[in-house]
Amino acid sequence: IRRIEDADIAGKRVLVRVDFNVPMQGGSVSDDTRLRAALPTIAFLREGGAKVILMAHFGRPKGQRDPKMSLAPVATPLADLIGHPVKFVSDCVGEDPKGAISLMKAGDVLLLENTRFHAGEESNDPAFSAQLADLADVYVNDAFSAAHRAHASTEGVARLLPAYAGLALQREIDHVTAALDNPNRPVLAVVGGAKVSTKIELLKNLVKKVDRLFVGGAMANTFLAARGHDVGASLYEVDLIDTAKAIDEAAGQAQCALLLPTDVVVAKEFKPHAERRVASVEDVAKTEMILDCGPETVDQLADAIAASRTLVWNGPLGAFETPPFDTATVEAARYAASRCKDHGLTAVAGGGDTVAALNQAGVSGDFTFVSTAGGAFLEWLEGKALPGVEALRD
Ligand code: 3PG
Repeated sequence: IRRIEDADIAGKRVLVRVDFNVPMQGGSVSDDTRLRAALPTIAFLREGGAKVILMAHFGRPKGQRDPKMSLAPVATPLADLIGHPVKFVSDCVGEDPKGAISLMKAGDVLLLENTRFHAGEESNDPAFSAQLADLADVYVNDAFSAAHRAHASTEGVARLLPAYAGLALQREIDHVTAALDNPNRPVLAVVGGAKVSTKIELLKNLVKKVDRLFVGGAMANTFLAARGHDVGASLYEVDLIDTAKAIDEAAGQAQCALLLPTDVVVAKEFKPHAERRVASVEDVAKTEMILDCGPETVDQLADAIAASRTLVWNGPLGAFETPPFDTATVEAARYAASRCKDHGLTAVAGGGDTVAALNQAGVSGDFTFVSTAGGAFLEWLEGKALPGVEALRD
């Protein structure tokens, strides 16, 4: 991969793809994690004397200009974080950005409007990529979390300008590679969440790569059912039982130990603090729902974490938004965090609800690395090449 450190940036117009698809409430940024993630690259470019032109998508406006999906609200919080004005331009191609760029000095920062206001972005239209390329001398991609999209701003334009990986994107790749492609063994993967259906490819890939795979969350119910357990009134996917069986068998063949809960927390109602009990997986009544892993399972998972040198985590182990069914997720995450601190465990987490679950456990800062990516992290776990990353290779 070509790295930004090798780019010729002094005095150059550098077009940087960032991921500013941030949570907003009432028209302002409510979580600035992704803005902060872009700061090292912005600082690097400004110190190197570049003119920094930032571009990003926001939401899914489907090629239409939609004021609710403008990136304008990002400019002020970003300027506060950088400590330098950020000028906003209300289009990402054409005369407006060209005019604003012609006035920039070294170290200045410009933010372009949502790339997805143009249909050519998502269709990766070569003409639209050419318009983007026309704005700059150098292209930098710092948006790992959008790298699974083969769009004009992530892929097309990278083919038209000298293209480099930004510092945040490099960090993501270095960590995900260290965790799965070239890890210290043994490797444990923890995969949770509601549905097997969204994670079939991921599970198939993981059983080939890791030494142990723990499956939790409602998706474990489908695996338990596949092994012949009665999961009572639990959420599970009846039409995926054969798929779960096949994954279970593939794990056996690949000598990957597929670990499932042995005890669970069950309730007859799904609501906060519902009346509940701990049951063996042999002993779930018809009227009961599995809502979390039980204490014996958390102990077994802790033993598996202690026996591993690398941990890859995606997804919660129970109904973590509804306390106390977040208990297993929180306890296991805290234990993993403590192993990172005291025993040199490499723990990498990412994808969808995972960051929220680790934040709830108060341990995101103690994991070796928490990815800012949702879908891109999952596609990487599936073993897929990410078009935005491939476009930065020599
Ligand atoms: C994300 O939020 O995961 C990325 O910004 C990608 O967004 P998308 O799923 O709308 O492409």
